[in-house]
Parts: sequence; C-alpha cells; structure tokens
Amino acid sequence: MPRIRLPRSLRPTLIVLALAGLACDEPAAPAVHKGKPRAQQQAEEAKAFEEGAPAAPKEAISAAALIDRARPLLGATALSAESPTNPLTDAKIDLGRKLYYDPRLSKGQTFSCNSCHDLAHYGIDTRERDGGRARTSEGHKKQFGERNSPTVYHAAFGLAQFWDGRAADVEAQAQMPITNPVEMAMANPESVIAVMKSIPGYLPLFQAAFPDDSDPITFENIGKAVGAFERKLVTVAPFDRFMKGDTAALDDDQLRGLKVFLDAGCTQCHTGPSVGGTQFQKLGTTKAWPEPLADTGREKHTGAAADRYFFKVPTLRNVTETGPWLHDGSVTSLERMVQLMAEHQTSGGKLTAEQTRLLVAFLGALRGDIPRDYIAEPQLPENGPTTPGPDPS
Ligand code: HEC
Ligand code: HEC
Repeated sequence: MPRIRLPRSLRPTLIVLALAGLACDEPAAPAVHKGKPRAQQQAEEAKAFEEGAPAAPKEAISAAALIDRARPLLGATALSAESPTNPLTDAKIDLGRKLYYDPRLSKGQTFSCNSCHDLAHYGIDTRERDGGRARTSEGHKKQFGERNSPTVYHAAFGLAQFWDGRAADVEAQAQMPITNPVEMAMANPESVIAVMKSIPGYLPLFQAAFPDDSDPITFENIGKAVGAFERKLVTVAPFDRFMKGDTAALDDDQLRGLKVFLDAGCTQCHTGPSVGGTQFQKLGTTKAWPEPLADTGREKHTGAAADRYFFKVPTLRNVTETGPWLHDGSVTSLERMVQLMAEHQTSGGKLTAEQTRLLVAFLGALRGDIPRDYIAEPQLPENGPTTPGPDPS
C-alpha cells in the first residue's frame, strides 16, 4: 500500500473536517449520516426510496439515550394548565363545560364553541366544504373567517391565544368569539348576559362557580368558567409514557422519527411539553414561504412591521388529526407540511422521503387519548319564559 503523504498545509483542514464530522452527533445539529456529506446521503436515500430498494441496514437506536436528549427540550404534559387568577374548581369547570356546548351563546343559536372546536375530534372544525375539511370555519349567516380553527386541546398552555397571540389567556379568549360578527355574532356582552339571566337553571350554577360574587352572571365570569374547562383539555399520548421512562412506548419508526425531529432542529420552535405554543416565529424563517401570504400574522395585532408573518408556533400534539394545517389551513398533507417546515424554517433544508416518513411516524406518537368522560356533552338548562329564540338576521 503506497502511503500518501499530505502537504503539511492541508493537515489542519483535515482536522477541522474530522471535528465537524464529530460535531454532527451533537444535539441540535442537522441530520447527517456519519462520514457522508448530507447531500450525498440524501441523494442515496432518496434514490433507494424511489427504486424501492432495500434500505441500508439500520443502525441501532437507543430509546434511553433519546429520552435523555428529548426530556429537557420537550417533556411529558401536565394534566391541567393551572392559573393563579382563575383557580380551577369542579363547579366552575362544570359550568364552563355547559357554556362551551351551549348554542344560545350565539345569535342564530346554531353555533357553540364545539361547532368549530369539536372536542370529540381533537378540538378542531371537522365540517366539510368542497369535498374536504373546510380550511376556515363557517360562522353566523354562513360567513367564513380568514383563519383555520386551532385545536383547543393543550391550548391553555400556550403563551397567548390565537394565531397572532392577541388574547392573553383562555379566559380572555373565550369572550371574543361570542361577539365576533362572523362567529357567534351576539350584539354585545349585555345581550349575552340577558340571555344567560333568562335561563333559570344558570343562576345556581354561576353562584356555585363564583360563590364570592353577589351578581355572578357576568361576561368576565363566562370567560373564566369556559377557560377553567379548557385548562383541563389535555390528551395523554404514547410520547408522555415515553418521556416518563417507558422505553417501549414508541415503536422503532417513531424513535427514529424523534431523532430526525431533534436533529433537524424542529425543537428550536416546537418546544416544551406541548411541542409548541411557547413562541411567535416567522413563517419562512430560513427561506421565504413559497406561496404569497395574505395574512401578515402578528403584525395585524401589534402594528409592528418586525412582526410581519409571525405566527404562534402551534402545538404539535394530535397534529396528525388536526389538518388542514397552518393559520390558513392551506396545507392538506402532513408529509408536505413537514417538508415545508424543514425547507423554510430550518437551516438543514430539505428532508429525504425516508426522513419525512419517520417524522410523520413520530408525530403519530403525539396523538393522545380523547378524555371522553371529561368532554361528555352535558345536559343544558332549559329556556325560561323570556329566553329569546334564534335570530338568523
Ligand atoms: C365559527 C367558528 C368558531 C367558533 C364558534 C369559536 N371559535 Fe374558537 N377559534 C376559531 C378560529 C377561526 C380561531 C383562530 C382565529 C385567529 O387566530 O385569529 C379560534 C381560536 C380559538 C382559540 C385559540 C387557540 C390557540 O391555540 O391559539 C381558542 C382557545 C378558542 N378558539 C376557543 C373557543 C371558545 C371557548 C369558543 C366558544 C366561546 C370558540 N372558540 C368559538 C373559530 C371558532
Ligand atoms: C423557526 C421556527 C420553526 C421551526 C424550526 C419549525 N417550525 Fe413548524 N411551525 C412554525 C410556525 C410559526 C408554524 C405555524 C405557521 C403558520 O401557521 O403560518 C409551524 C407549523 C407547523 C406545523 C403545522 C401545525 C398546524 O397545526 O397547523 C407542523 C406539522 C410543523 N410546524 C412541524 C414542524 C417540523 C416537523 C419541524 C422540523 C422539521 C418544524 N415544524 C420546524 C415554526 C417552526
């Protein structure tokens, strides 16, 4: 074997390259197969995927090591999002559940919160339009808003509410759809209170929920009761069992998908136990978004040009069930959604077909169990003699 002697000047470069290769195994670095340049690896994997060729023998993957790596970035969910200003009591939650399902909080008495955030279906709007799930929601008089209805599960953990964060918490948020003209369309808070007071069965429920208030039926208390109910809208997923140390909770693809998720840097934004909900970020961070964006996002709320195209990073819990995706519901395939994220939000760029498949498998591990008993539709108090009927105008 002839020995190749390298010119002295090249040696430091090689050392740097070798170190760069090692650094690839550090967390947060983009996914790179040891020793091979990323582009070459991706090309090979993509080719193998297209030809249906047998995949290269898989490296063993350690669930325990992944738990250690993921725990500080993600973590198991809490079972309720506690609030210092709105302590959770059973009476408040029971009232909130009734209000959540009560269409009499809407002018036409056809829409409740559950119409656009169906709790039996992961808290989103599952109504169809043009042969698929509607991208945005139908409200009063068949009007459609501009944004996709986000899930209410795990929403209370978010740093703020709405895609642009214009409501501070679920209590403040819950008051807003009721008087939104394209949603529940009530004229004003006073008309809402009048309806509530006309339903005799509500007074004792408000009294039990707000025992210190002499006149407990207020718009603010409606927000507090609904908010209290929402604070326990939590789904527990295989991922939570995994974060608590059950190494068998994720299957092999999900484990590998979690590694891709961490390697690709998705956790820079989708972080915390809700795998999102903790930041506002620009859509098109590392590369401009491929389609023109009609919605300027957080800029609409703050008026600051620096906030243009910033949206709340959504929770990825139950994301396999909550499509179509994005603030405008414009993406209808989760595979494409994940690829768009890699390409436009991360520095690593495009994913291979296999990486995409694994990522989507991992996202499936974030699908939790619907808390059927907690969300069971309650019996609503009956109309009184002065309760107004539906007003379709
Ligand atoms: C007509 C459909 C519709 C109705 C009815 C409706 N919502 Fe929504 N909801 C939406 C849409 C659309 C958004 C997103 C709007 C935005 O971000 O600007 C939203 C956002 C939310 C959010 C924010 C979630 C997050 O992660 O930011 C919560 C919480 C919520 N709604 C709860 C409720 C409650 C409680 C009610 C009943 C009082 C209700 N909604 C009634 C459509 C609806
Ligand atoms: C720089 C921040 C950032 C990074 C990194 C990032 N995302 Fe996102 N992600 C967002 C934001 C912001 C949105 C919402 C944008 C919108 O609705 O317009 C989003 C939306 C999503 C959605 C749609 C969720 C829904 O309910 O509509 C999925 C799925 C998703 N991201 C997955 C990923 C994956 C997988 C990665 C890693 C490859 C990733 N994201 C990396 C910021 C980021």
